[in-house]
Amino acid sequence: MSGDLSFFRPARTGPVLVRGHGASFWDAAGRRYVDLGASHGVGNLGCSHPDVVRALQQQAAELLYLGSGYDLPARTQFLERLVGQLPPSLNRVFLSNSGTEAVEAAIKFARAATGRPKVVAAMRGFHGRTYGALSATWRKEFREPFEPLVPGFVHVPFNDVAALTAAVDETTALVLLEPVQGEGGVHVATPEFLAAARARTSAAGALLGFDEVQTGMGRTGRLFAFERWGVLPDLLILAKSLAGGMPIGATVTTEEVRTRFRGSHHSTFGGNPLACAAGIAALDVTIRERLWERAERLGEYAMDRLRHLPPERVREVRGLGLLIGLELRERVTPYLVRLEERGFLALPAGATVLRLLPPLVIDEDDFRAGLEAIEEVVGRG
Ligand SMILES: Cc1ncc(COP(=O)(O)O)c(C=O)c1O
Repeated sequence: MSGDLSFFRPARTGPVLVRGHGASFWDAAGRRYVDLGASHGVGNLGCSHPDVVRALQQQAAELLYLGSGYDLPARTQFLERLVGQLPPSLNRVFLSNSGTEAVEAAIKFARAATGRPKVVAAMRGFHGRTYGALSATWRKEFREPFEPLVPGFVHVPFNDVAALTAAVDETTALVLLEPVQGEGGVHVATPEFLAAARARTSAAGALLGFDEVQTGMGRTGRLFAFERWGVLPDLLILAKSLAGGMPIGATVTTEEVRTRFRGSHHSTFGGNPLACAAGIAALDVTIRERLWERAERLGEYAMDRLRHLPPERVREVRGLGLLIGLELRERVTPYLVRLEERGFLALPAGATVLRLLPPLVIDEDDFRAGLEAIEEVVGRG
């Protein structure tokens, strides 16, 4: 097992998966597992989507790497595709290799563009594990062993308009929020909260950043979750499924932020040919198949069904599109194990929340079977 040589051992030993296609994985013995977790949201298109594989093969054969100082048709095309899906003001993109790097860039851009130090984030928020992103992340277990973290970060209760309004002042560079908190237990922002974040940051001369690393690319029933609230950020952070399974991060911002930015920032592999080629293919599939509509439809169906689970087991069902949290009254791990025994791979979000984050392309029968398995292990009402 790689766990013996890896720095971290896996929390528990799951099946050894050797092949994937769509929302299915297979172990070495040929047993199939249905993916209800999309590898933490990377797999909106499922595993090894043929269009992504083809684009990668072609790009790898033509030009595997090229320094970011050179023009690269795949990068130009990818950025045009991405920006073409966004409101006109969001038209400057910095490419990196992961969610946490995209968050770091957003924090640096905001501080360097405003000349201010303070970052306001939300309790229960998750933004990554590098120092800036970790400083914006809420959970004590993630933060404490690595202190001191970056100074200047404060946290307000999610969806608390008064606390957010009070926290933003003339020293604030950035308010950083997830429209739906994923790792923190699947909590959906209220319209009032995001509208207040927009109004207060604009009034105070601060920037508003949405971390859509998990909610982006169709997951919540819109291509970008912020479209639902009609609140436009100054910084939009994307990663996970943006390149169909290849490592990528994108920090999208405005011409104004770019003009005001002072300093330098760079990533050797950011915007590399393979990530860009995969990104073009992934965006094309998502748009062609209007996968956000599928997420919306399947998500509503699932939430309706899961709301019938017995209240003595399930405290709450929350979510948007195919980002769904089932808050249990006890620890989630035994339920995940029982689901895995039945051939379904789901995720936790904290200690008691069972998180569903299936590929948006999941076969409807597989998805229904997954919901049935959940009903079985959690218990019918
Ligand atoms: C909302 C959000 N932001 C940032 C990250 C960090 O992304 P990565 O693991 O690619 O660094 C995650 C990862 O789960 C996330 O869910």
